[in-house]
Amino acid sequence: MTDQIEIHKGLAGVVVDTTDISSVNQETNSLLYRGYPVQELAAKCSFEQVAYLLWHGELPTADELEGFEAVERGQRALRPEVQALIEQTPVSGHPMDVLRTAVSLLGALETRFPDDERSDYEKSVRLFAQLPAIVAYDQRHRHGMDPVPAREDLDYASNFLWMTFGELPDQTVIDAFRVSLVLYAEHSFNASTFTARVVASTLSDLHSGVVAAIGALKGPLHGGANEAVMATFSEIGSADRAEAWLEDALASKKKIMGFGHRVYKNGDSRVPTMKAALDSLVDYYNRPDLLELYTALEQAMGDAKNIKPNLDYPSGPAYHLMGFDTPTFTPIFAAARVTGWTAHFIEQQAHNSLIRPLSQYTGPAQRGVRPTGRGL
Ligand code: SDX
Repeated sequence: MTDQIEIHKGLAGVVVDTTDISSVNQETNSLLYRGYPVQELAAKCSFEQVAYLLWHGELPTADELEGFEAVERGQRALRPEVQALIEQTPVSGHPMDVLRTAVSLLGALETRFPDDERSDYEKSVRLFAQLPAIVAYDQRHRHGMDPVPAREDLDYASNFLWMTFGELPDQTVIDAFRVSLVLYAEHSFNASTFTARVVASTLSDLHSGVVAAIGALKGPLHGGANEAVMATFSEIGSADRAEAWLEDALASKKKIMGFGHRVYKNGDSRVPTMKAALDSLVDYYNRPDLLELYTALEQAMGDAKNIKPNLDYPSGPAYHLMGFDTPTFTPIFAAARVTGWTAHFIEQQAHNSLIRPLSQYTGPAQRGVRPTGRGL
């Protein structure tokens, strides 16, 4: 009699390893990056300081930050090989496909270092620096516009916006964008980060891990949800139609994008901070109609299913107000999350064990081969 095997579908609730990078706590509804509450980091730190913290475990001193910024800012330029790739990729393709392919190309171009921990950190900073140029030009290229050269006198968030729109927006917009990047940077063993760790566990290379993570993030159950939130808003149209729309959607067993979470069951700890950023944008752009729709759907979902928003729910409309195309939303998520992905990749390889779970076989019992038709 075989013991009753317990299947943990989706690895729900299964602790597979330790990590020093972040803590996602559903009891306290909190998120710590290397021990710091993410809300405090979003209020007090640049995205560069948070990226440094995720990689190094400590916030940088003034000198360390200056050195880090010099290295990052010196590597922001759009590589000519990547520019050519973007220009040869049909605009009908999804920006996440362009991003995934561009990172793969960057990996092929990495001939400077052997695959060791030191160089993986340097490759991580280079990727961190280069993703904004890719995301920004991909959006511009879809509108027939040329790339905007990176600026080394701007911080990461400001330069990302500069390269996308060719001008600097109001500080309100820059602050909201920076907050979104800090909140998106890291979230423990989410699907895309765990994907990167699986690749790391085979001792493959960093770029292969990031390419795999981009593939996982693209899915609408994960990072693709922020794009899908805007599609939902467009479908609903106005606040007064939210309840009826939701009734129909739930009746046809649809998942409502931007709601629910595998770990947070009483609301995503990051939402209040991102919602405050969205509120500042709604005021700045004078779009109370968008906030009314946001609130109406949130209320209806709470009444109908008692399911709360996740980070993708406020970030979608926020990126829309900033002027990003909807298909650009998840690439922005990826550009922020490349910090967490690479920090976990390096941590996995530093304390590695090949990730290889078991499965319970439920196929046909053993049987003999009797070929039908013409055998060998
Ligand atoms: C991210 O893991 C991370 O940390 C991810 C992330 C990160 O920072 O990396 O936080 C980013 O991916 C956030 C999630 C973005 N995805 C979405 O917004 C897609 C919509 N959400 C759902 O698909 C769902 O909530 C998940 C996938 C996010 C979590 O689902 P679970 O934990 O697997 O829960 P479940 O799907 O088993 O749902 C339990 C019940 C089900 O009802 P029953 O079938 O049992 O009756 O709740 C229902 C579900 O149908 N439900 C939803 C719902 N979420 C859960 N019903 C409608 N709409 C939803 N959004």
